[in-house]
Amino acid sequence: MAVAILIFFLIILSSTLLHTITIEAQQQRNSSISLGSSLTPTTNSSWLSRSGLYAFGFYPEGNGYAVGVFLAGIPENTIVWTANRDKPPVPSNATLALTSDGRLILQQPQSQDVTYIADISQPAFEASMLDSGNFVLYDSNHTVIWQSFRLPTDTILSGQPLLAGLDLFSSVSGTNHSTGIFRLVMQRDGNLVQYPASAIESQYAYWASNTNQNGDNCSLNLDGDGHLYLLNATSTNIFNLTKGEPPTKEKKIYMMKIDVDGIFRVYSRILDPNANWSILWQSSNDNCHSLGLCGLNGFCVLNDNIADCRCIPGFVYVNPISWASGCMRNFTTESCKTIDGDGNSRYNISPLENTVWDDDSYMVLQLNSRKECEDACLQDCRCEAALYKDGKCRKQRFPLRFGRRSVDDSNVALIKVGNYSSPNTKGVLTDSDHPPKKPKRKQRLDILIIGVSLIAIALMVLAISSVLMYRNHVWVYKKISEKGNAVELGEDAALRTFTFKELEQVTNGFNEELGRGASGTVFKGFTSYNQKDVAVKRLERLLTEGEREFQTEIRVIGRAHHRNLVQMIGYCLDGPNRLLVYEYMRNGSLANFIFTPENRPSWDERIGIALDIARGILYLHEECETQIIHCDIKPQNILMGDHGRAKICDFGLAKLLKPDQTKTFTAMRGTKGYVAPEWHRKLPVTVKVDVYSFGVMLLEIICCRKCLEWSLAEEEAVLEEWVYDCFQAKELHKLLVDKEEVEKKKLERVVKIGLWCIQDDPSLRPSMKKVMLMLEGSVDIPVPPSPTSFLSTI
Ligand SMILES: *[C@@H]1O[C@H](CO)[C@@H](O)[C@H](O)[C@H]1NC(C)=O
Ligand SMILES: *[C@@H]1O[C@H](CO)[C@@H](O)[C@H](O)[C@H]1NC(C)=O
Ligand SMILES: *[C@@H]1O[C@H](CO)[C@@H](O)[C@H](O)[C@H]1NC(C)=O
Ligand SMILES: *[C@@H]1O[C@H](CO)[C@@H](O)[C@H](O)[C@H]1NC(C)=O
Ligand SMILES: *[C@@H]1O[C@H](CO)[C@@H](O)[C@H](O)[C@H]1NC(C)=O
Ligand SMILES: *[C@@H]1O[C@H](CO)[C@@H](O)[C@H](O)[C@H]1NC(C)=O
Ligand SMILES: *[C@@H]1O[C@H](CO)[C@@H](O)[C@H](O)[C@H]1NC(C)=O
Ligand SMILES: *[C@@H]1O[C@H](CO)[C@@H](O)[C@H](O)[C@H]1NC(C)=O
Ligand SMILES: *[C@@H]1O[C@H](CO)[C@@H](O)[C@H](O)[C@H]1NC(C)=O
Ligand SMILES: *[C@@H]1O[C@H](CO)[C@@H](O)[C@H](O)[C@H]1NC(C)=O
Ligand SMILES: *[C@@H]1O[C@H](CO)[C@@H](O)[C@H](O)[C@H]1NC(C)=O
Repeated sequence: MAVAILIFFLIILSSTLLHTITIEAQQQRNSSISLGSSLTPTTNSSWLSRSGLYAFGFYPEGNGYAVGVFLAGIPENTIVWTANRDKPPVPSNATLALTSDGRLILQQPQSQDVTYIADISQPAFEASMLDSGNFVLYDSNHTVIWQSFRLPTDTILSGQPLLAGLDLFSSVSGTNHSTGIFRLVMQRDGNLVQYPASAIESQYAYWASNTNQNGDNCSLNLDGDGHLYLLNATSTNIFNLTKGEPPTKEKKIYMMKIDVDGIFRVYSRILDPNANWSILWQSSNDNCHSLGLCGLNGFCVLNDNIADCRCIPGFVYVNPISWASGCMRNFTTESCKTIDGDGNSRYNISPLENTVWDDDSYMVLQLNSRKECEDACLQDCRCEAALYKDGKCRKQRFPLRFGRRSVDDSNVALIKVGNYSSPNTKGVLTDSDHPPKKPKRKQRLDILIIGVSLIAIALMVLAISSVLMYRNHVWVYKKISEKGNAVELGEDAALRTFTFKELEQVTNGFNEELGRGASGTVFKGFTSYNQKDVAVKRLERLLTEGEREFQTEIRVIGRAHHRNLVQMIGYCLDGPNRLLVYEYMRNGSLANFIFTPENRPSWDERIGIALDIARGILYLHEECETQIIHCDIKPQNILMGDHGRAKICDFGLAKLLKPDQTKTFTAMRGTKGYVAPEWHRKLPVTVKVDVYSFGVMLLEIICCRKCLEWSLAEEEAVLEEWVYDCFQAKELHKLLVDKEEVEKKKLERVVKIGLWCIQDDPSLRPSMKKVMLMLEGSVDIPVPPSPTSFLSTI
């Protein structure tokens, strides 16, 4: 293994070295360029700065060459400025000349066309490629009459101010430096703002420094230590975007660039040829943040934080290589009639859940249900799509723009599609709808890199965990990201504190017991101050006796708000008593539904429940302020709200309670219940333990039976094994109880998701985000390996 890694790095090293050597050979060194000098793309292709770091001249673009400034001292082709960026590239017989009459021009043989690189009113006397990355023209008095620093494209370098009124436009792609679709402008009013290039109205600004109270003519500046800040007209620092870095032994260079995805980033790099650019700061951590990334009728989806574009149902990419060109309709609208000659409806509605769009409605209706909104659009000839949220139905015409998925937004886009062209209802797309992001070969390399790093990480985890095991016992719970560590007063104002006496009254003397679990006993109560039923949980076997610790944890739990979580209302910390007060869920737990034949929900309802739970867990893992690992996902901990909405309860308790010593999982004859195998192996516990438990529960939801059922035949008793056996034998229908009818493809998809989640190897299990995308049908699901294949290899 180690040998493989070594070889892999050697290959990369040698290819970068080769690259450096070829660059150097083609260039001549001279920082001062005299009249009459010229360059061609193939020989003497650029003028270097004195240190050799920057070069001005030809670089390859498309099938030809473009003229610009780039970093010559490093192997990556980092282009920082392009002349006439929207003109097509020139062929290899073109010439770039500083003519004897003082003009900087680009010429092609036997062509009268001359392109001016610098627009100057007086002749230049001399040119120079400076070590700052600025290409300048001087007059005879050595006064600068033109400089590339004043005409930035998508990048500014240290010492290059973005003056009031100037703007940067992103490039089309990493290899096409023409003007792209995002803009960063240093407005004259002092505000630094990002817009989609197609819309300059302030409502479409997707990022702003909000510094317009600081007077006119501010400028954006980047210092030699990576410090990015705004200066006002009298050179006072009014806003810091980044802090400067402390000086290091190796010299570092910095640049700020508005990237192809519309986010602007500060990059740093040491000059070692084997180093890479690294991101020092970025204007957003959300890669779908930029408005219009996916073009018209497309929407952006985050896939493990990588932006991915999709077309709305019934649409395909105009140009699969370029997302920005958007999506076009793939059905013809011959007639506006909603019913054809045979009385069949011509159009259907295909919904896209949890998406946000630019609202460009021609009519807004107040309607009570989504169904009414669908009907209103179907019956309206002009309506091509409708946005439904909070009782408002906004009828739209195409194009829909600035779309993205947002798990937190309940808006649903209802797209009218031709009846014949829409086999899907959830915005499921076939592979052909996805533009290929990278050439296949590169993907292979990616897989190789990921593979190698996974193995490396696995080895590291193994090593680290054995050290940890030695020093500590098992990590019951791990907080990974904690933004803002100080618990601020007032933030948990929504949480009410109760005295023990009050709760005695609320529960009528702990009279009505709702349930008893590992974490404590739950009683029904009624709060008279707001006339609400509540559930009061009396905690037992507490880990943290201290009041401060308890309060800190409670605040973390109390701050988690999501429609798929049972909301905590308050708590009691009174002497030795520790109680939690939750909203009351009259319908009981999911176990009550799926394991009781009379209550059993339909297939579609069950999938809805699974999605709800996945959303809730995703929120706990990735979206709430402090990451929460539930550690005890099971049907008994899912409560059912009104309208069949599933809500997770008991989250955050793992941190408060002692692990139950009486349960010996290992005694269960190799079966695992809901508990991920890493618990037994004393490996560090990560969010993936919840994914595992979710997977087991998902199989239960599919099959409507418990994961361990000893009354069944031996081969069926352990659900996980039984499901995998049926999956391998392609006999999935056996899994459904009472001959339930479910489309084979749908069933197979969900079973595959379940099998991925219960992989023994935590790194093979998908993230909750991925699980959600798979459940929604927006990503393909590969064939899962045997869940226990990891065990047999170690
Ligand atoms: C460098 O520029 C100077 C004038 O500034 C010129 O005399 C000299 O010939 C140039 N050297 C090369 C190698 O072009
Ligand atoms: C390229 O530069 C070398 C010296 O650096 C010079 O001898 C040669 O004539 C130049 N070629 C052209 C085509 O300008
Ligand atoms: C770069 O993109 C622009 C706009 O999409 C396009 O017109 C141009 O042909 C592209 N240039 C190259 C070299 O591909
Ligand atoms: C220059 O190159 C272009 C494209 O390669 C070609 O069409 C053209 O004929 C060439 N011109 C001369 C004078 O060789
Ligand atoms: C150079 O400076 C002199 C004296 O300051 C001035 O007369 C002359 O016009 C300047 N030349 C140019 C090209 O600006
Ligand atoms: C720049 O900011 C300083 C400090 O806030 C202030 O005194 C000065 O007047 C400002 N200059 C302008 C032109 O607004
Ligand atoms: C800002 O710059 C413009 C154009 O250069 C100038 O007319 C204006 O007076 C400047 N405003 C301030 C406050 O400096
Ligand atoms: C920005 O940071 C510098 C130190 O790096 C500090 O002197 C300056 O006051 C800060 N500016 C603002 C507006 O906070
Ligand atoms: C730079 O990136 C390459 C691949 O992108 C990687 O192999 C190499 O290890 C990186 N170097 C450093 C110093 O991070
Ligand atoms: C729409 O797309 C599907 C598959 O992507 C294709 O089979 C069908 O022919 C297309 N329909 C039209 C009208 O272009
Ligand atoms: C769609 O059209 C087909 C035939 O054109 C018809 O059989 C079917 O019922 C229609 N579907 C709906 C939902 O109206």
